[in-house]
Amino acid sequence: VVANWKMYPQTLRAAKELVSATKRALTKVAGVKVVVVPPSTFLREVSKGVKNAKVSYGAQHAHFERVGAFTGEVSMQQMRDVGAAYVLVGHSERRAMGESNEETNKQVVAALGAGLKPILCVGEWDRDEDGEYLEGFARQVREGLANVPKNKLKNIIIAYEPVWAIGGEKAPEPHVVHEMVLYIHKILMEPFGKAALTIPVLYGGSVNEESARVMIDEGAVQGLLVGHVSIDAKRFAALLKSLK
Ligand code: 13P
Repeated sequence: VVANWKMYPQTLRAAKELVSATKRALTKVAGVKVVVVPPSTFLREVSKGVKNAKVSYGAQHAHFERVGAFTGEVSMQQMRDVGAAYVLVGHSERRAMGESNEETNKQVVAALGAGLKPILCVGEWDRDEDGEYLEGFARQVREGLANVPKNKLKNIIIAYEPVWAIGGEKAPEPHVVHEMVLYIHKILMEPFGKAALTIPVLYGGSVNEESARVMIDEGAVQGLLVGHVSIDAKRFAALLKSLK
């Protein structure tokens, strides 16, 4: 379960409390791992200390260049240095700011090079009855993973996040997600063959303590990418508990 905190909370103190609450909740839940993805300023502090096999950390974004004159940016290696093991790539909120498939692809390649596991986020903005959205969706998937050598696939995670489902309380029916998981694997069979089937797919978009379990059981996903519920300690604990 990946907890994408987005631009919350406001203080390091609140961030630390949230991580502690997540760790406490996990002591009662077997078989679930959490990746906390906080704003980058909190990463070093929240990730230090006693290693916890159930909790690891990720960055919300990093630049694809290793070093250079890129004011305001942070590199993959720098994120790794402050404790990240994962990095979100191509979240729709970043694509909305102009991030292209070409850039997400460079980030995926850079992340792998820096020893981070990229979580490539893909998802259509909306749907049309003729299914034309599938074309743009397929490009996000295909182009996002271009130039990735087959032997690196084990370090790749894909998150299906339909933009129309983000930020509310109603996730789509699990069969809708299941269909997209099959489609993602089908798209990736072309470049990668059967190895594509081993790439884990997560679901994100309005997942809450009610829908988490059924999404895992019936949506054919191997995990969840949780936004606003992950910054509410009580609700997130209930969500984790529902998965045990
Ligand atoms: P919500 O869970 O708030 O819908 O956010 C989903 C998301 O964008 C996670 O990356």
